[in-house]
Amino acid sequence: MVDFKLSLGEEELFNKAKEFAHEHITPVAADLEKQDEYPMDVVQKAYEAGLMNLHVPKEVGGQGRSLLEETLVSEATGYGCAGLATSIMCNNLAFAPILIGATAEQLKKYVSPLITGKKVQFGAFCLTERESGSDAASIKTTATKEGDGWVINGAKCFITNAPVASLHSVFASTDPSKGYKGLACFMVPADLEGVEIGYTEKKMGQKNSVQSEVIFTDVHIPGDCLIGNIGDGFKIAMMTLDKTRAGIAAIATGVAQRCVDEAAKFSNVRRQFGKPIGANQGISFMLSDMDCRTEAARWLTRYAAWLADNGIRNSKESAFAKYFASDAAMQNAVECVQIMGGYGYLEEYPAEKLMRDAKLLQIYEGTNQIQRMVASSVILKENPPDKDTGFRYQYEGRDAPQI
Ligand code: CAA
Repeated sequence: MVDFKLSLGEEELFNKAKEFAHEHITPVAADLEKQDEYPMDVVQKAYEAGLMNLHVPKEVGGQGRSLLEETLVSEATGYGCAGLATSIMCNNLAFAPILIGATAEQLKKYVSPLITGKKVQFGAFCLTERESGSDAASIKTTATKEGDGWVINGAKCFITNAPVASLHSVFASTDPSKGYKGLACFMVPADLEGVEIGYTEKKMGQKNSVQSEVIFTDVHIPGDCLIGNIGDGFKIAMMTLDKTRAGIAAIATGVAQRCVDEAAKFSNVRRQFGKPIGANQGISFMLSDMDCRTEAARWLTRYAAWLADNGIRNSKESAFAKYFASDAAMQNAVECVQIMGGYGYLEEYPAEKLMRDAKLLQIYEGTNQIQRMVASSVILKENPPDKDTGFRYQYEGRDAPQI
């Protein structure tokens, strides 16, 4: 049976996150982004409200919630501010490789202390490097075996929450000659000698999230910081992104919805030629398309999360959700600015921030071009040359035409 209703527990969590965003995010987001400092106060409140670390199993101190539930929180917080939502949900990304590949002992030792205290603590997902963005397999950071442990050398960039993180999940090459098969994933405590935070990026939008360089210089880590096996690193990174791209899609859905709501409210309030501007088809048709896009984004997102929750590989669906929802957020933001006219372009109104914030959703956690590559590689595999579609090409049984 297909059921599009959220369960009672899911509905309660969604409502709690929406109330949190209404009370603690939306009223402060625009002012906070001008302060140029980490929005610790809001993130601490989100932690205390139980809106972080949802996916960590109960046995190690987490809430044991589903990916679908995580997306509900991200949609609600994203509605308030995409940057704050990114800061709040970033532990999902940082801890996902550890949850995928680590043993229960490793989780208890390295993750439990970060999620059970009174003060919010952070992890950071360290994959990207200056010369290795879309081509994740080409990273240059190295891990060299020394005794029972490892020595990490290299530099990562664009790392969300890096300056406040206590633990980094770091992807490094143990043997550059092996390409992606030589990659491994490690946990690197941020207080170890040789771990330094470098340049913090100045961005167009999502100013309420922080991305910095992390530099590793001869960092000695114990053997139990290795997650899974040598050679598993690339697949752990890809499996992580399959999960977390649904989270980005959820933030994007929140942004897209906020654009609909702000534009519709404005269209009812703003009068020109003696009537609300929403009475014009030029505006009302835009509103309908914006809302339709948002609803489609929401259900692609929830479906991608539901697949993962049910143990079904969702590479294609999470890529669909990520690119469709973030494209919807961007398009809705542009149209929200347009509907609000001159007011849409002013800092005092929410539309210009929505537009700046939306752009990053099309870029981080894999650009939308990379998402289309991920999805199309699955589609091509689903349709091999010998697939019986019921239609016979004229050349079947003979050599295919050489074009
Ligand atoms: N699950 C399991 N295995 C997977 C997989 C998945 N989702 N995707 C690929 N693999 C496996 C493949 O099966 C293959 O294994 P075999 O050789 O055993 O068959 C292996 O991994 C290599 O796969 P590909 O040949 O497809 O790899 P590729 O080098 O062509 O790259 C890519 C694929 C999709 C382009 C990948 O590099 C990618 O996702 N790039 C984008 C990286 C990215 O999203 N970065 C964002 C960083 S995080 C961030 O932005 C957040 C922040 O803090 C700002």
